[in-house]
Amino acid sequence: GVKMIIIKTEDEIKKMQVAGKVLSDVHHKLRDFIKPGVKTIEIDRFVENYLKERGAYPEQKGYEGYPYSVCASVNDEICHGFPTEYELKDGDIITVDMVVNVDGWLADSAWSYEVGNVSPEAKKLLQVTREAMYKGIEKAVIGNRLGDIGAAVQKHAEDNGYSVVREFVGHGIGQEMHEDPQVLHYGKPGRGLRIQEGMVFTIEPMINMGKKELTIDDNGWTARTKDGSLSAQYEHQIAITKDGPIIITDQGDC
Ligand code: MF3
Ligand code: CO
Repeated sequence: GVKMIIIKTEDEIKKMQVAGKVLSDVHHKLRDFIKPGVKTIEIDRFVENYLKERGAYPEQKGYEGYPYSVCASVNDEICHGFPTEYELKDGDIITVDMVVNVDGWLADSAWSYEVGNVSPEAKKLLQVTREAMYKGIEKAVIGNRLGDIGAAVQKHAEDNGYSVVREFVGHGIGQEMHEDPQVLHYGKPGRGLRIQEGMVFTIEPMINMGKKELTIDDNGWTARTKDGSLSAQYEHQIAITKDGPIIITDQGDC
């Protein structure tokens, strides 16, 4: 179909950076908060309270009926994990995804965390997934095409023996959580839409240690790997400028 991409002004990008700062501060707090014994529902409450204190709103809550402030996806859960009474245990990995609304402008970022001491294999999955996201971000420059991003992400994942989830993709974002364009995490260099100044979108690869196929839980939301393998995700929201991509959800030190 026709792509209706909403190009953002410098001023609008600054407003999203305000939401992005709140969001990156939350992720900083989660580094200490997430540890063995913590229930994933406690992460949801912690984030919701913190955002309220900062005058921000958890945009995911109520979005298409989604019941929580964050997605908390543990181990083989790929995305849209529901926060529950499950107590995190040593060696788990967990992805926390959230969208922060400040004065109507949105920031979206997911991050995978280690719980206590994780296996070297899990550590490597997290590192490679994070690197794959940044390799995609490097390609997000004016004149490149979306396929350049997808190809870079896919190559790094597959070079390391992992697979890229196909069913969930990055997306334009601004005052709406999901705008055009769709940003695939696989593809061919030189293909797809040309990247322009003022575009704001997410790059959010979900990478499985095993095969790419998934199943959806009975709750209608939670995606998990069909083969039971671990899955990781890192997501940043970026703005395209003449000077290259600005990472709106930058955490400063990683
Ligand atoms: N933050 C997610 C994304 O990157 C959206 C989660 S879906 C929701 O697109 F319904 F839970 F909000
Ligand atoms: Co997200």
